Parts: sequence; C-alpha cells; structure tokens
Amino acid sequence: MKAIAISAYGDVDQLHEEELDIPQIANDEVLVKIKATSINPIDWKARMGFLKQMYDWQFPVVLGWDLSGIITQVGKDVKHFKVGDEVFARPDIYEDGTKGTYAEYAAVKEDKLALKPSNVSFEAAAAIPLAGLTAWQVIVDRLKIKKGDKVLIQAGAGGVGIFAIQIAKHLGAYVATTASAKNAEFLTNLGADEVIDYHEHQIGEVLNQYDAVFDTVDDLEAGLAILKPTGKLVTIAGRPTQAQQDAQPSATSWWLQPNGKQLAELGDLVAEGEVKVIIDSTFPLTEDGLRAAHERSQTNHARGKIVINVE
Ligand SMILES: NC(=O)c1ccc[n+]([C@@H]2O[C@H](COP(=O)([O-])OP(=O)(O)OC[C@H]3O[C@@H](n4cnc5c(N)ncnc54)[C@H](OP(=O)(O)O)[C@@H]3O)[C@@H](O)[C@H]2O)c1
Repeated sequence: MKAIAISAYGDVDQLHEEELDIPQIANDEVLVKIKATSINPIDWKARMGFLKQMYDWQFPVVLGWDLSGIITQVGKDVKHFKVGDEVFARPDIYEDGTKGTYAEYAAVKEDKLALKPSNVSFEAAAAIPLAGLTAWQVIVDRLKIKKGDKVLIQAGAGGVGIFAIQIAKHLGAYVATTASAKNAEFLTNLGADEVIDYHEHQIGEVLNQYDAVFDTVDDLEAGLAILKPTGKLVTIAGRPTQAQQDAQPSATSWWLQPNGKQLAELGDLVAEGEVKVIIDSTFPLTEDGLRAAHERSQTNHARGKIVINVE
C-alpha cells in the first residue's frame, strides 16, 4: 500500500512516499481502507523526535492518528462491526511505528471505532477523533462543565478549541476564549461569549472568578490566576509544577485516551448539527501534500483542522 513515512527524525523533507505491506490485523482489530486522515500538532512533534522517550520506533515510521474509511476485514473476536461499515477512529499509537494513518490502510482495535454518521462526510469525520475526543474528555469528564459554569478555553480557533467551545456551549456554559483578532467574529459565530485577543490583553486583565480553565497553550500561571478557589484547570499542553498543584490541587494535565463509545456520542452531536467540524485546509496523500500540511500546522495558526484526502 502507499504510505507517507519518515526514515529519520527531522524537518518536513523527511516525509516521503513508501510502498509498505498492508497491516495484518489481530483478532480484536479491523482493517480500514482509509478515505481521509487529519493532522495534529503531535504529528510534527513526533516527526521531530519529541516522542522518542515514549515509543522505541524503528524506521520507516508512518505518522498520523486520525482516520475515516471503510472496513475491509474483521478479526475473529470483533463483535460490533462488519465488512463495509463506514467508520472513524483515533487508533492506538502502536509500538510498531509503521501503523500510522498517513496510509491507504490501518488496523484499528474495535473499542476505538465508531460508525460514521451517514450525513457526515469522510473528510469531516477524519477531522474529529483526536481533537474532538480530547475536547470531550477535558470538558465533559475532567472539568465536568455544567449549565452556567464560566469556562476559559485557550486557543479557541485551534483543532481542539473549536470542539471544546461547541461542547461547552452545548452543556450550557458561558465560554471565554483566546484568539488573534482575525478570528474573533468566527469564534463568536461558533458560540463563544467572549473572545480575548491574546496579542493585546493578558487574560487576567479581563477575566476573574472562573469555574474552569482548559489550557491548550501551556500558560498555567495565567489560567490559575483567574480561577475561583473551587475552580479547576486542566492542561493538555504542559504540566503543573509542584507549587502550582499545592496552591490549586485540581490543576492536572491530561493525555487523550482513545474511546470509540465517546467518539460515537460526539459523532451524534455532529450529525445533529450541534457541533460543526471546521476545516482549515485539505491536502492529498502525497509527499508534497503532507509536507505542506505539516508546514501549515507548524504555523500554529490553522483555523480548525487540516485534513488529508487519501482517495
Ligand atoms: N495532551 C493531549 O492529549 C493533546 C491532544 C491534542 C492536542 N494537544 C496539544 O494541544 C495543543 C493545541 O492543539 P490543537 O490541535 O488545538 O493545535 P492547533 O490546531 O495547531 O492550534 C492552532 C491555534 O492555536 C491558536 N494559538 C496559537 N498561539 C496561541 C496563544 N498563545 N493563545 C491563544 N491561541 C493561540 C491559533 O489561533 P490564532 O491564529 O487566532 O492566533 C490557532 O488557531 C498542541 O500543543 C497539541 O500538541 C494535546
């Protein structure tokens, strides 16, 4: 199968086309013929070697951890999916580094899969899993946002931020977010109650007594300073210091746990129009396409998700 891989850690020029074997599936996995995948900042961080401590990958390494596509094979223990099902997923990050989603096929464990709603395109579905599940797990499970809560969501225009704002609004929260001025109107239309231009203002100049902070930019000091004493902060971009945790024991960091059941719930909200998928740009599954997509993500100013069309 065609895949875009790296043969060493480094810059975007490491991304190149490879012909690899179609993955063999385990009994609890399905094989998905991929229609689309998407870019997340972890992709280029991994390309640069930042995950070396976590995964002892042998080259060539195929990056990418989002997919939508059609099941072409099922393992003998798979109970709830069949050949022909249209699905989407954030697959596991395997120790075998060749199992990423910049490829024509990927193996996915059944418990990470969700059926793609029929009115959601493959392109949109591929943009949801990693960023959407991260937003869901922080807003719903960790911060436990409820009606009337005041929550700050940093980087509202980013892949995670766009989902987090919409999920928090769906739960009835008052949402403040940070963005560049050019994104203010876009984020208000998406549901944000207050947009702070982070180039002009510190959040502490504008906000105080917040119930919750979702930190996506590793600015914990500023986030902690606007919380109520009973408030909670979750970061996906940094780690609270001992002193910060002593002062605010609810301050924690979070690493996404892929989960097919939650993904199906989020897919329902997208199918109902409660949550919109915002696509910044699309590229093809080619060497040039992936290089351009990584460069776009590395600007740190994508608005929503960058999608790769595999077919
Ligand atoms: N722990 C986990 O499980 C997990 C999961 C997903 C993501 N992450 C991490 O979370 C971070 C965000 O991910 P993402 O996918 O949302 O990234 P992204 O899509 O690349 O974010 C881009 C957005 O960030 C905004 N931005 C940049 N600097 C900002 C700042 N100082 N303040 C406010 N907004 C700023 C930009 O808005 P403007 O253009 O308006 O400036 C842009 O829209 C990344 O570091 C990623 O690695 C962690």
